[in-house]
Formats: sequence, structure tokens, C-alpha cells
Amino acid sequence: MQQPRDHFSSQFGVFLAVVGSAVGLGNFWRFPYMVGTHGGAAYIILYLVFVVALCLPIMFSEFIIGRRTQSNVFGAFKKLAPGTGWWGIGLLSVAASIAILSFYCVVGGWTIEYMIQSVVGFSSDVGVLGHNFSSFVESPVRPILWHLLLLGMSAVIVVGGIRNGIEKACKIVMPFLLLMVIFLAIRVLFLPGAGEGVIFLFKPDFSKITAETVLAALGQSFFSLSLGMGCIITYASYVKKEANIVKVSVYTSFADVGFSILCGLAIMPAVFAFGILPSEGPSLAFITLPNIFAQLPFGNAIAFIFFAGLTVAALTSVISLIEVVAAYFTEELKLTRRTAVIITASIIVVTGSLSSLSMGALKGFTIFGKGIFDMFDYLASNILLPLGGLSIVIFVGWVLNKSVVKDELSSEGRHRVPFFKWTMFVIKFIAPIAITIIFLSALGLIKLF
Ligand code: TRP
Repeated sequence: MQQPRDHFSSQFGVFLAVVGSAVGLGNFWRFPYMVGTHGGAAYIILYLVFVVALCLPIMFSEFIIGRRTQSNVFGAFKKLAPGTGWWGIGLLSVAASIAILSFYCVVGGWTIEYMIQSVVGFSSDVGVLGHNFSSFVESPVRPILWHLLLLGMSAVIVVGGIRNGIEKACKIVMPFLLLMVIFLAIRVLFLPGAGEGVIFLFKPDFSKITAETVLAALGQSFFSLSLGMGCIITYASYVKKEANIVKVSVYTSFADVGFSILCGLAIMPAVFAFGILPSEGPSLAFITLPNIFAQLPFGNAIAFIFFAGLTVAALTSVISLIEVVAAYFTEELKLTRRTAVIITASIIVVTGSLSSLSMGALKGFTIFGKGIFDMFDYLASNILLPLGGLSIVIFVGWVLNKSVVKDELSSEGRHRVPFFKWTMFVIKFIAPIAITIIFLSALGLIKLF
């Protein structure tokens, strides 16, 4: 016998859980270094345009599919388009979740290591920090242990269910996270020389925009909002009929962008104040920042707060990814929630360990010229998410009945839907065309600039 389906307790609970999924390493670790490597403000503007023009309609679409069907991603497509091949998108989503978890949990594990290291304090010598970082990520045991710890904590929360596990966890940690990033941003803005970093973040240099920048901004916006692979579909399947999904989507997008900009403000001005190049890349959070913390009064405490924040931000995102796979196993294979989570976590233990080892012991092993870790990241962010997002908008725009779309967006007529025609137009035409063009140009099949 299947248990009756669990639900989020309120609209605010849905909001916190979706923000919990959206706000994660994508905001704290990826966004600042992407802004740094892609030239600052121009990239941020592109990113904002993508969030409003493309991501929001996709988020609506995911909410519509999930809430309508009250099913896992695979079941959702099967219910809405029976007898067609659309369920394939469901399987793709489950695969994408596994791909993301396989590198995400590893980086989440690094944040735990750095949280602990910050108790002792960091060296103020960049060379030493760089060396420590590489020897840590290349070592065969510790990173894997921390990744297991993060995975284990997340699994326990997911086993607890939607209302008593996921929603509760997000209710506890999200306010803490907000306070933390505001505190850090304010602290950093008081550093002498911080102004240059603020200028870098807000004064655009459009000559920096290339086809690659456009794709990077698109990939980042999908990644940061947890779009394109059924994460929101899955959470939406636990949303009650009364909740206003348009409002939740809009507020979530604002909150996520707000977090990213605050993270940028907490990091870039510090980078400039200490005379470091912003284009440091993925090691920004693990080499550059510890170096800065080491030179600040009470730097250890600040570093601890930062890395603890990073860890919990990763945690609430990991639980949303595990839920996609676990919901699929529970409902399609008729397993208990507990067994489904254990199976999911066991898969990630293997793929995650491999991707961690690809930094060191398995460095020589490459697939299409990329190590395992980079391959999972590239596959998910640059291929599966855009493809998934494209399929989702095509499905809602062209396959799903328009009355179903309206019915869901208005929560069965309970709420007014402003800009309905415009939203439909974007979902039907603009979003699919834009994603296709950007995607093809990134693969080098057409030339944008
Ligand atoms: N959005 C999260 C972050 O920014 C990561 C994440 C969670 C994600 N669920 C997702 C990314 C689904 C893509 C798809 O860190």
C-alpha cells in the first residue's frame, strides 16, 4: 500500500524549501568566480536578463507540471502525456540529478574541511594555501570522508520526509544563512580599497561578452535556480492546490539573485582590497578567501562563519537533488522512502568518490578530455540542464493544454495571473528559441558573435 503523499505545510514553507534548493554552492562558490572570470558587471546583467526572461517562465512550467500531477518527474510526464515518449525527460532528470550530486557533494565536503581548518586558522601565504588546497583535494581519503558526511546528513533529512525533514531543515538554516551573508558583506565593505570591487560588480564592460560568456551566464542561471532537471517539479508535487505558485516562483528568483549579489558583495570587494585578481577561478573560495581571512582581525571566526554557511547552503541543495531520485524510486519502484534514499545515497557514494579521486589518484583518467569531476559538471550544467529546460518549456507550451496551464498558474482560479498572454508567449516561442540558439552556439554548431 502506498502511503498518502506528504505535503509542505504552507506557502511560506514551499518558498523556504525552494530557496533552500536554489541557494547553494552555486551562489557562494560558483557565482563569484564566474563573475570574476567573465569580467564582472556585464556578466551579472546578462545573468539578470536570463533569470527574468527565461528562468522565470521555466520555473512556472516546472511548478505547473509538478503540482498538477503530484508525482515524481518520471511519473509526472507519464501522467500528463500517456502513451508518448515524454517520460524520457523524467529519466533524463533523474540522471542529471545523479550527475550534479556526484560533483556537488564533493565540493560540499571541501567546505566541511575548511570549516574545521578555520578553527586553527589559515596561512597568510597564498603559495602555502594553494599547496594545501591541492594536496587536500588530491588526497584519497579525507575529501571522500567529508563528502560521505554531507551525503549522510542530507540522507537523514530526506528520510524524515517533506514536512518534517526537508521543510523543517530549511526553516532552521535559511534565516541563519541570510544573516551570515549580510554580516559578511557589511564587514567586507568596510575594508579600505573595497570600492574597486563594488565598481567591478556594478559597472559593466560589454566588450567582455562573448558567446562563451552568454552560455556561462545561461548555465549559471539554470544551475542557481535549480532548473532544468525536475528539482522544482519534484518539490512542486508536494505543494497544495491553494498555494500561489506564481508568487512563490517570483519571490524565489528574487531571493536567489539577492543571495548571489550579496555573495558577490561579500567576496569581490575583499578580493580587490587585498590586490588579488578576480579571475582566480574555482579555487577562489578555497585559496583566495582563506588568504584574506588570515589577514583580517577575528579572521578565524569570520572564516568559520563563512564555511559553515557554505556547508549548510550545500546541504539544503543536496537534499533537493536527492529528493528527485528518491521520489522516483519510491513511487515507480514502489520502495519505502528509507530504502529509496539508501539506494540513492549508495549510488552517489560511488560516483562521488570517483569524482573526488579524479582530482588525484585518477587524474590521468579522462572522458572526452575531461576528468570525471569536470565531466559531471560539464555534462550537467552545459548539456543536461539546457536540454532539460528546453524540453520542459516545449512540453508546457506545446503539449500541455492551455487550460491546464492557466488552471495551475491561477491555482484553480483562486489567484489572478498577471501577464498570462506574455508568459505563454515566452514559454511557447522566446524561451525555446533562445535556449536552442545559445545551446547550439556553445556546442560550436552556429556562430553567435
Ligand atoms: N541551485 C543549487 C545551487 O545553486 C544547486 C542545485 C540544487 C541544482 N538543485 C539543482 C542545480 C537542480 C541544478 C539543478 O547551488
